[in-house]
Amino acid sequence: MRLDVVTIFPEYLEPLNVSLVGKARARGQLDVRIHDLREWTHDKHNTVDDTPYGGGPGMVMKPEPWGEALDAIVESGADDARPTIVVPTPSGEPFTQEIAVELAEKPWLVFTPARYEGIDRRVIEEYGDHYDVRELSIGDYVLAGGEAPVLVMVEAVARLLPGVLGNAESHRDDSFAPGAMADLLEGPVYTKPPEWRGRGIPDVLLSGHHGKIARWRRDEAFRRTTANRPDLIERTDPAAFDKKDREM
Ligand code: ADE
Repeated sequence: MRLDVVTIFPEYLEPLNVSLVGKARARGQLDVRIHDLREWTHDKHNTVDDTPYGGGPGMVMKPEPWGEALDAIVESGADDARPTIVVPTPSGEPFTQEIAVELAEKPWLVFTPARYEGIDRRVIEEYGDHYDVRELSIGDYVLAGGEAPVLVMVEAVARLLPGVLGNAESHRDDSFAPGAMADLLEGPVYTKPPEWRGRGIPDVLLSGHHGKIARWRRDEAFRRTTANRPDLIERTDPAAFDKKDREM
């Protein structure tokens, strides 16, 4: 998969050299290209922002550098290659595991993290007319810029690419993964030693009884979801829950 990121803070994307994403790059599974938006400015001060039409606080990112940057990146691909453009913004559609799965199937993503009050709307409209543009929010809070959201989204997507996670099974039981435990959060996990500060391990996990262990995991997932995310329970088809769940 190819990933391009256009930013005024290229150093903010340094974590993409580390850990899972860094290793995927080193193995050639990810081709990550970070671009400095200011390379597409032409004035002495490398200006990327200006005051908003209509007044109000803050600054808006100018359309010209974004247009030149995106044209150059899009044209650098193979003749028929068309990227999906991901615009991180608190006004976007919520970024979910489902969207991560969708993005992981694309061959090429271009991220446009903005600073200030965002990018001149015409840029989103212009590229939206010709490309698949996704405006995505990583949560209901406002960050100073889209770079941290890019790190979040790239990590969520990269770990789904074939061969990137050591154990292909390890995302099967993720909270939010499609499948048997869909809409339930993952329950607690334990490892050795069997006793730590006087705290043991639930007996069932030591029983070797796979059926009972699966049942226990599901009960714990249900308990945790009810406590932390009742909204997930409410939006789930009641048929997905059994008698035991309803008694909890
Ligand atoms: N930029 C600023 N806040 C953001 C958020 N919550 N999600 C995506 N991009 C953002």
